[in-house]
Amino acid sequence: MKEFLEKCAERRLLLHPETVSMLGADGGLVSRVLDLPEGTVVTPDKLLETGPARREVSGGNGAAEGGGPARTGGEAASHGNASREPSLEVLVDATGESEGSGELRDLNALFRDRLERLGGILKRRRGINPRKVGTIPRKMERQVATVGMVSSVSETNNGNLLLRIEDETGEMPAIVLLRDTGLTEEAGALLVDEVVGVAGHTRKDSDLLLVEEIMRPDVPSVEPGRGGNYYAAFISDLHVGSTTFLGEELERFFSWLRGDVGNEEQRDIAAKTRFLVIAGDVVDGVGVYPGQESHLSVTDLVEQYEEAANLLDTLPDHVEIIVAPGNHDAVRQAEPQPAVSDEFAEALDMKSLTLVSSPSTVSLDGVKVLVYHGRSLDDVVNCVPSATYEEPTAAMKELMRRRHLAPVYGSRTPISPEKSDFMLVDDVPDVLHCGHVHTFGMDSYRGVTLINSGTWQSQTDFQKRMGIEPDPGIVPLMNLSSGERMKLRFA
Ligand SMILES: [Fe+2]
Repeated sequence: MKEFLEKCAERRLLLHPETVSMLGADGGLVSRVLDLPEGTVVTPDKLLETGPARREVSGGNGAAEGGGPARTGGEAASHGNASREPSLEVLVDATGESEGSGELRDLNALFRDRLERLGGILKRRRGINPRKVGTIPRKMERQVATVGMVSSVSETNNGNLLLRIEDETGEMPAIVLLRDTGLTEEAGALLVDEVVGVAGHTRKDSDLLLVEEIMRPDVPSVEPGRGGNYYAAFISDLHVGSTTFLGEELERFFSWLRGDVGNEEQRDIAAKTRFLVIAGDVVDGVGVYPGQESHLSVTDLVEQYEEAANLLDTLPDHVEIIVAPGNHDAVRQAEPQPAVSDEFAEALDMKSLTLVSSPSTVSLDGVKVLVYHGRSLDDVVNCVPSATYEEPTAAMKELMRRRHLAPVYGSRTPISPEKSDFMLVDDVPDVLHCGHVHTFGMDSYRGVTLINSGTWQSQTDFQKRMGIEPDPGIVPLMNLSSGERMKLRFA
């Protein structure tokens, strides 16, 4: 115990008295505590958040939250046993849940909800005891911490950062002296509308809060959930109906999935691939951008979905297909986007196909996958210096650090003013699957597997102009039991 306490001191971990008795009863907790971020206040809640209990609790609760279709199959057999049928469950789906009237009061409610919930995560994870912005003393020397939304960020003449932090009680200016604080990276990634915790001090001679620490909600380091010895394949951005849709390459992947091609090992993996997740832009759509007609081989939206359905229908029934929409699909642009409806996509009404919203959370045999098309990645790439289109998982990490899928309001990502913020990442997933940027990436962040699944469309004129080099025909696969990841090329 002495050695453990010394290690805690080195890592500036503060142990709540009740956690010490919990640690004595469970040796496994000790290593999990030491994995926590430096400076964490380790409360009993925190221990539960980091441990296996997270899966049990969130899996059960998540199922109750879901409003969409649910399909489960097979008995609850032990993991690693491929002889039982894997289960599919929709845990969270925003389809039909949209309540916003589009009025200003809903926008206020959205921001209040975001601030309250992310503020709550910050308080629990970082152990800070924040003051409301309106109660922070001005023109007095005080050490303070607060949680608020960043309403503006600008650079001063001498290269420092001036922020405005606000909550429901007020707004105050804060300054980050970049050279003095070493906060260059944290401060350089600040996004307007993101919720942060800041600690620092106020001064007698100024109204400014001098920022010494910037805290983000972030995700805890967790052991990912595991399923049986099955694989899930992740794809997105098919753009069926576009002249640049790579139908032959997709058919090559589907024939592999059917077990028609490949060596014995590959066929074995194909037979165990029981889930295909599609993160949006199934079709190219119609009227998505000016002049799109000249880039379409199928100009009718319903026919585009029929063509997509004909392709997907060639897959064996044991492959459960999960389809979320993207900005090219036949649903509203504002996020959360509901599942594609029968009005346009009746052809997708197939036995083994489940339509979900973007974002949504599905459990693939116990592995929680957060599916989000990824339109906000444009905003992150625009605003965060380390995020690029070439490496989309770097931008996805930024979303996870903020526990929010669309942190910037009023830029490229249209967000529906809702009473509750659907884009917030309450429950930490095992996998975050995005698309949209048409570049491939696979990585992990604090136990969360990050996948951007590229595209099945060759370089478009727009991408040529923007200098974006897409990664078509690559399929990321993940073994649900071991978490092993691989990528297969079909182009
Ligand atoms: Fe796309």
